[in-house]
Amino acid sequence: MTDMLKVGVLISGRGTNLQALIDACAQPGFPAIISLVISNVDDAYGLQRAEKAGIATKIIRHQSFDSRADFDAAIDAALKKSGINLVCLAGFMRLLTGEFVNAWQDRLINIHPSLLPAFKGLDTYQRALDAGVKIAGCTVHFVRVEMDEGPIIVQAAVPILPGDDSDRLAARILEKEHIAYPLALRLIAEGKVAVADEVVRVDNGAPSTESLINPSGD
Ligand code: GRF
Repeated sequence: MTDMLKVGVLISGRGTNLQALIDACAQPGFPAIISLVISNVDDAYGLQRAEKAGIATKIIRHQSFDSRADFDAAIDAALKKSGINLVCLAGFMRLLTGEFVNAWQDRLINIHPSLLPAFKGLDTYQRALDAGVKIAGCTVHFVRVEMDEGPIIVQAAVPILPGDDSDRLAARILEKEHIAYPLALRLIAEGKVAVADEVVRVDNGAPSTESLINPSGD
């Protein structure tokens, strides 16, 4: 137990990525444990997922603070009190201050539903469809002060299919998110992830050699 990475997860909503992390951590030998889930939203469904898994939860309402700095300081204090080593943002819909982000540099990760650096921000699915890209996906990355910036740890790709709309594409990407996020967490917990010159290197990371071509040409 002692050399397990202690993880804090920040959520604002339904928490399907949180669930994927909970399920991964429940696997025998998984090198991380989720010790705290924080939500800024009272009725975020992810809180129920955490409680069901016996994980401590805390609600920290952004409305209760005069400034973003004070809100972030409360989150920081709660994470430190629980001895958290790594923070996972999982659908956490607040922008964190530079002070918080820098204090947790390389110990703070996020999942974003696009192949970064394309389609930062919101509404990534419709923007990908409107741009006519043929491949979309998701990215797990270390968080930097600029939104959706930071060294990339894992990406997963999905093809855009005929008849796709935003919801269909979102669902297809979400399936990959639930694989990519636990994978990134495991690699970090195993000490295999290093950041140098803002690029991630994964020790002994067997690359996937499968390529995705869309359309296939068949
Ligand atoms: C996911 O699409 C994630 O990529 C984005 O917010 C969404 C959170 O979904 N950052 P969930 O709450 O994990 O189901």
